[in-house]
Amino acid sequence: MLAAASKVVNSRSEHASDSARSWKKIVEPAEPFLHAVTQQLIRQAHEFDPQIVPYAEHALNASGKNLRPTLVALAAGCFGKPDESHVKAAVIIEMVHLATLVHDDVLDEAAIRRSNPTVAAKWGNEIAVLFGDCLFAQALKLAASYPTTEVCRAVSLATNTVVSGEILQTQQRRNFTAARRDYFRVIGMKTGELFTLSCDLAAFLSGATEAQRSALREYGAAVGTAYQVYDDCVDLFGSEAEAGKSLGTDLAKGKLTWPVLLAWEKADAKDRAELEGLIQNWQPENFAGVNALLAKYGTFEPSVEVINRFLEQAQLALRALPESAGRSGLSELADFLAQQTGALAVQ
Ligand code: IPE
Ligand code: IPE
Ligand code: MG
Ligand code: MG
Repeated sequence: MLAAASKVVNSRSEHASDSARSWKKIVEPAEPFLHAVTQQLIRQAHEFDPQIVPYAEHALNASGKNLRPTLVALAAGCFGKPDESHVKAAVIIEMVHLATLVHDDVLDEAAIRRSNPTVAAKWGNEIAVLFGDCLFAQALKLAASYPTTEVCRAVSLATNTVVSGEILQTQQRRNFTAARRDYFRVIGMKTGELFTLSCDLAAFLSGATEAQRSALREYGAAVGTAYQVYDDCVDLFGSEAEAGKSLGTDLAKGKLTWPVLLAWEKADAKDRAELEGLIQNWQPENFAGVNALLAKYGTFEPSVEVINRFLEQAQLALRALPESAGRSGLSELADFLAQQTGALAVQ
C-alpha cells in the first residue's frame, strides 16, 4: 500500500484496506499540514515562465505519498505544533525530491510516475533534464527566503548528496563488486538523505537541541534506507498498478539492488556467471531467469530482515526524544513500513 498510499482506496484486497486505515491514522493529525503543502506546491507551478507552466503543473499537481512532508510534520510534532516555516520546508524538500524523480525517470527510461506519464515520456528527455534543473533552482530560491542561511545551506548540501548518490549508482551499473561494496552508502545518499533532512530541518525550525536533532537525523537515515530497500523489493516483486510507477527498471538499467546482490553473493560459480550474463546482456525476457535465481537463493526473506533491522534502529533512535504525538507518529510510520514490507510477499 505504501507503494501507492494515495491510491489505496481503489485496491480490493483486505490487506490494502487495513493498510489504508493504519496509514490514515498516521497522517490524519498531519492532514491540515499536508493540505497546506499540496496547495503551496500547486501555487509554485505559476512561479515558472509561462511556457514552462504546463510541465510544472503536470509535475507539481500529481502528489505522491507525501512521505517527506509527513516526516516534517511528525518531527515538528515532537516539539509542539508545526508552523508556516515547517510547511515551507516540506514544500522545498518535496520539490527537490520531485526534481530528482524527473531526472531519475530519464535515467531509468520510465514511462509512468505517480500514475501519470513521466515528464520525459510526455515531453522528451531534453525538456525533462532542463525542467528538473528548474525545480532544483526554485527549491533553493525558496530555501534562501528564511531569515537564516542555515536552511538553504542544509538543503543545498542534501541535494548535492542525493544527486551524488545517483551518480555513484550510475557509475556502478552492472558492476557487482562495486555495487555490493557501496549499496548501503549509495541508498543512504540517494534516499536516506532527504528523509534525514526532513526530520532535521523540522527539528531545527522547532528549536530542538543538538541531541534531539541528532536522534531525528538517525531516525530519518534509518527509515530512508529501509524505504529504499523496500522500494528495490517493490521494483522486483511488486505490482505496477499498486505502485503507480514503472517497475522492473532497476534490472533493465543494470542497477544492482539488494535482492540481486544477495543472489550473486550466495550463488555457486555457474549461477553467478548466469546472473551476471543475464544482467549484462539485458533483454526483457531475462526477467524470468533472474527471478528464478532470486527464488533459488531465497533472497526475499533476508531483504525483509535488512529492512526490519533498519526500522528497529529507527525506533531506538526515537527513545532520545520527548514523548509526544509526533514521536508516536514517527514510531507508527516505521511500524507501518515493516507491515508493508511483510505484505509484499503476498502481492
Ligand atoms: C520514490 O520516492 C523514490 C524513492 C526514494 C524510492 P517515493 O516513493 O516517496 O515517491 P512519491 O513521492 O510517493 O511519488
Ligand atoms: C530512487 O531510486 C531515486 C531517487 C532517490 C532520486 P529509484 O530509481 O529506485 O526510484 P523509483 O523506483 O524510480 O521511484
Ligand atoms: Mg527510478
Ligand atoms: Mg525504485
